[in-house]
Amino acid sequence: MYPVKSDTSTKPLIHVENLCKNYSLGSSTGDPINSQVLFDVCLDINPGEFVAIMGHSGSGKSTLMNILGCLDTPTSGHYWLAERDVASLSSDELARIRNRYIGFVFQGFNLLKRMTALDNVATPLLYAGLNRSRSRKLALEQLRRTGLENFALHQPNQLSGGQQQRVAISRALVNQPQLILADEPTGNLDSQTSSEIMALFDQLNREQGITIVLVTHENEIAAYANRLIRLKDGHVIHDESQTPESISATI
Ligand SMILES: Nc1ncnc2c1ncn2[C@@H]1O[C@H](COP(=O)(O)OP(=O)(O)OP(=O)(O)O)[C@@H](O)[C@H]1O
Ligand SMILES: [Mg+2]
Repeated sequence: MYPVKSDTSTKPLIHVENLCKNYSLGSSTGDPINSQVLFDVCLDINPGEFVAIMGHSGSGKSTLMNILGCLDTPTSGHYWLAERDVASLSSDELARIRNRYIGFVFQGFNLLKRMTALDNVATPLLYAGLNRSRSRKLALEQLRRTGLENFALHQPNQLSGGQQQRVAISRALVNQPQLILADEPTGNLDSQTSSEIMALFDQLNREQGITIVLVTHENEIAAYANRLIRLKDGHVIHDESQTPESISATI
C-alpha cells in the first residue's frame, strides 16, 4: 500500500547520487567564501510516491527542490530524471523535459498579476507550442477540474489565497506532468484552506498517480505524504515510509 524505496520493479522517476551544492559568496576582503549547502544527497523517488521534505530553515530544502526541478544545477553528483542524465541535456532539452514532466507549485503562488486565471493556466501550453485558442480551451478544462471555472476571468488580486493556489496548481497540472514539486504550498494559507489544498494533492496522487514531492514545515501537512525525508544542514538525516500509525505518533 505504501510505496517502498527498494521496490526494484519500478524504475525511479528521480534518481540522485551524491548530490552536492556549493554557493560562492563575495566577502568584505574580496575573496569569495565558498559555502556548501547540500552534502552527498542520495535519493530514489518512484512514480506514484507522495514525499514530504522537512527540515529547519536554511537546511537546503528549496535548494534541493530547485535542482530536482532542473531550475538549478548541482556542484557535483548526478541526477537522472525519468532515466535521463540531466547534466547531459542541452538547455532546450532541459526546458522541454521540465515542461513535459514537472509542474511547480510555490508558497507565493507566482501567478502573473496582470493575467486572468485562464491565461495564467494557459501559459505552459503556449510554451509547449499550442496555439492560443487550443491553450485556452485546455486551460478552461483544467480550471473546471480544479473547481474554478467561474473564476477563469479573474485576475490574481480578485481571488482568495486558496483560489490563487488552486490556479497555480491548475497551471502546474495543465501539461499533465508526472511530477509535482511543491515548495511550502500551504505556507501562506490558513489551516482550513491548507487542508483543502492538501486534499487536492492527495486526490491527484491517489487517483491520477501523480508523483508529489512537497516541502513543508508542518507535521499535519507532511502527514498527507507516504514518505518523509528530513534534511539537516544539507544532509539527509531521515528517509522512511510513513504509515498512519507512525504519523499519529509524531503529531
Ligand atoms: N543563491 C544563493 N547564494 C548563496 N547562498 C544561497 C543561495 N540560495 C540559498 N543559499 C543558502 O543555502 C542555504 C539553504 O537555503 P535553502 O533556501 O535551500 O533553505 P530552505 O531549507 O529552503 O529554508 P526555508 O525553510 O527558510 O525556505 C541557506 O543557508 C541559504 O542562505
Ligand atoms: Mg525554502
